[in-house]
Amino acid sequence: MDDIITTHRLTKTYGSRTVVDDLDLRVPQGCVYGFLGPNGSGKSTTMKMLLSLARPSRGEITVLGRPMNRTTRAGILREVGSLIEAPPGYGHLTGRENMEIVRRMLGLTGGQVSRAVATVRLQGHMDKPVREYSLGMKQRLGIAMALAREPRLLVLDEPTNGLDPAGIEEIRELLVSLAGNGVTVMVSSHLLDEIDRMASVLGILSRGRLIFQGTRAELFARSTPDLLVDTPEPERALALGIPAVRTEGGLRLSGFGDEDTAALVRRLVGGDVPIHGVRRVRRSLEEVFMDLTGREGLL
Ligand SMILES: Nc1ncnc2c1ncn2[C@@H]1O[C@H](COP(=O)(O)OP(=O)(O)OP(=O)(O)O)[C@@H](O)[C@H]1O
Ligand SMILES: [Mg+2]
Repeated sequence: MDDIITTHRLTKTYGSRTVVDDLDLRVPQGCVYGFLGPNGSGKSTTMKMLLSLARPSRGEITVLGRPMNRTTRAGILREVGSLIEAPPGYGHLTGRENMEIVRRMLGLTGGQVSRAVATVRLQGHMDKPVREYSLGMKQRLGIAMALAREPRLLVLDEPTNGLDPAGIEEIRELLVSLAGNGVTVMVSSHLLDEIDRMASVLGILSRGRLIFQGTRAELFARSTPDLLVDTPEPERALALGIPAVRTEGGLRLSGFGDEDTAALVRRLVGGDVPIHGVRRVRRSLEEVFMDLTGREGLL
C-alpha cells in the first residue's frame, strides 16, 4: 500500500525548544490514521507543518507522493482538506453563507458543496447563523468545508474535541465511511478513547517524539501483559521487596518478561511464599498508552 504522507526527520524548534522531534511518519493510503498524544506533545504543530501552515525547522515532507516545497505545495494542497484547531466559519453568517465563501474561494460547484453538506448531515441547518450551532454542528460544518473540494486526504485536528459521546460516534462513523470510500483521514486527539475505535493505524507522540506507529494490534503486542500471582500470603512476598501491588487473592506486577517471571518465581519459592497460581492478564489499550506516554496525563 502506498503512503499518502511520509516525513523524514521532521523537526520544529521554537527558540531553543524542540517541540516536534525527528518524526518519521507513514500514513498509508485509505486508512484512518489516529494521531495521538497528550496536550502539548506537538500534534497541532506537526499537522500545521504537513499543511504548510508552519515551516519545518528540519526534515522533509512528502504528501500524495510528491515532496512538499514552495513550488509544489499549492498543487498538493488543492487535494487536501483540513480542519486545524478551532472550527472555522463566521458566526454571524449562516451555514449556507459560510459554505458559499468556501465555494467561491476554491472555485467549486454548487453540487460539490451540497454533497459535502449532506455527508455531514447539516442540510436542515444551513439557514441558521453559525453562532447558534452546537459545538458538534460547528465541527461538522468545518468538516464540510474541508470535504467540499473532494480531497484525497483529510487532516483533522481534534475534530471530536468537546463533543458528547453521540457527537463523537457521529464523527467516527463519518470518518470511517470516508476512508471506506478511499479518502485517507489523519485525525488527532489527546484522548485514546475517542480515536481508538475509528483509527486503523495509530501514531503516538510524547514530548514531540513519535514513540509508536503501527496498528492497534501491534501496539498491544508491544506491551507485556501484567502478571498475577495468586497467594494467600502477599505480605510475605512484599516483605521480600518484590515490586508488586496487592490485589484480591494475591499480587499484580507490571513489566515482567519471561526471564523476569522465572526469576520472580524462584525468589518467591526461596522466600517460602505459597504460590497457588501465576498467570498473565491483558492490559487495556488505555494502560498501554499511559505507559508509553509516561503517564503524563490523558485527561
Ligand atoms: N508559535 C509557537 N511558539 C512557541 N511555542 C509554540 C508555538 N506553537 C506551539 N508551541 C509549543 O509547542 C508545543 C506543542 O504544541 P502543539 O500545539 O503542537 O501541541 P498539541 O499536541 O497540539 O497539544 P493540544 O493537545 O493541547 O492541542 C507546546 O509546548 C506549545 O507551547
Ligand atoms: Mg493541538
